[in-house]
Amino acid sequence: MTLTSAPLSESTWPAFAQLVERHGGIFGGCWCIAFHLEPGENKEWAGRYRELKHARVREGRAHAALVFDGSAAVGWCQFGPTAELPNIRSKKDYEKGLGDLPDWRITCFFIDRERRGEGIASRALEEAVRYIAEAGGGTVEAYPEDYTGQRTSNSFLCSGTLGMFIKAGFQPRRKIAMRRWVVARTVPPASGRRPARVPLGPRRPRQGTARVPSGRPPSARSLRPS
Ligand SMILES: CC(C)(COP(=O)(O)OP(=O)(O)OC[C@H]1O[C@@H](n2cnc3c(N)ncnc32)[C@H](O)[C@@H]1OP(=O)(O)O)[C@@H](O)C(=O)NCCC(=O)NCCS
Repeated sequence: MTLTSAPLSESTWPAFAQLVERHGGIFGGCWCIAFHLEPGENKEWAGRYRELKHARVREGRAHAALVFDGSAAVGWCQFGPTAELPNIRSKKDYEKGLGDLPDWRITCFFIDRERRGEGIASRALEEAVRYIAEAGGGTVEAYPEDYTGQRTSNSFLCSGTLGMFIKAGFQPRRKIAMRRWVVARTVPPASGRRPARVPLGPRRPRQGTARVPSGRPPSARSLRPS
């Protein structure tokens, strides 16, 4: 079946909610809220993250590129303006080397347990970048993990892999934890708007492993996918 993409919104909320509920609320009830929480909200909304997430979606304060197979959502890539996603992992180390905050952040992915390894996360990322372009573009940061050439627990990769961001045109900027990188890209504004539901083309063939740095970030040129 052809995969399609649509943004998280009040009309796609039921499909998003079903995907979360099929997986026990994600991490026992997170509802993909951790990156949104502002001081005090954690206490206020404890145990009510479904409600909080839904309220944010209604208010236009929660964004994601959803990937659908038919009417079922099979994955998402969460993104949003930086103010909407104030929390990132390794924040202390991130703040040490901080220049300007980005306009946008891409913070997390979730793919249906039955559909992993099909390239859906990579395609959700491409869609998130397109939505950012349609919203006017700007500087975008993400904080993926470098497990190049290794397998690890899927749960460790909720912010994506360094390789998939490099393939999507992001450049590694600095390391903020043993395996965690700040990657960045400037997305130009898109011309014109797309329809609400967009068919995704055939899956891009894997082009081998993206070259990733072992220590200091090499130049952007040497990090582009081969
Ligand atoms: C990590 C995850 C997003 C990957 O989704 P996916 O659709 O299987 O990923 P893709 O098939 O698009 O693969 C993307 C890249 O990640 C790599 N990858 C995927 N799973 C991996 C793993 N367990 N270990 C190492 N690399 C992995 C793939 O090899 C691929 O690399 P390549 O582009 O160099 O070939 C998915 O396993 C997932 O949803 N995990 C749970 C995340 C979570 O707990 N989120 C909660 C929200 S905070």
